[in-house]
Amino acid sequence: MAIIGIVAVDRQGAIGKQGSLPWHYSADLKFFKSQTTGAACVMGYKTWASLKRPLPKRLNIVLSRSRNVEAQEGVILLRDPLSVLSLASYLKCDLFIIGGAEIFKAFSQDIERWIVTEVPLTVEGADTFMPKDFLQNFTPYDSLKLEENLTVTFYQRER
Ligand SMILES: NC(=O)c1ccc[n+]([C@@H]2O[C@H](COP(=O)([O-])OP(=O)(O)OC[C@H]3O[C@@H](n4cnc5c(N)ncnc54)[C@H](OP(=O)(O)O)[C@@H]3O)[C@@H](O)[C@H]2O)c1
Repeated sequence: MAIIGIVAVDRQGAIGKQGSLPWHYSADLKFFKSQTTGAACVMGYKTWASLKRPLPKRLNIVLSRSRNVEAQEGVILLRDPLSVLSLASYLKCDLFIIGGAEIFKAFSQDIERWIVTEVPLTVEGADTFMPKDFLQNFTPYDSLKLEENLTVTFYQRER
């Protein structure tokens, strides 16, 4: 079991605008699906609210301090990051931290690897950003070209 952050960022570290993704790259969505299927995905309530339905074939773990989520298959609601980590230590699958910015921040010390899609855009009016230093103490160890101009880099925490 590993704790893995997975994110797509633009040239300035933007990840969101008005509650959703400010781009559509089907190659990246496919890649996200291939990486996370069969695993657990942790998301903040705002990211959960941006989905139309639970991510299929994954355990959807939604974090909220106050909101409720309708009981449904494949979804659990937890109230704090420590509860997620308690559960994670009993999981056999990887735990993907899938965002948004608040949730990436909450797990910044726990993430062992990052998978980062570099989106070749500078989004105007973006309102949600990664911290500038989120890859500090991480080293790239692999990369993958999803399509022309769309690259994924894999990072691991330095020991
Ligand atoms: N580009 C990407 O890869 C990517 C990935 C994911 C999301 N996004 C984008 O990012 C944006 C959303 O990000 P965001 O940072 O605004 O919101 P978010 O992280 O998705 O959700 C924030 C909510 O999570 C809950 N939360 C946060 N910290 C918590 C904690 N310590 N314990 C319990 N609950 C906690 C709170 O819910 P309550 O207020 O209900 O308590 C908070 O309002 C959207 O635009 C989305 O599309 C982009």
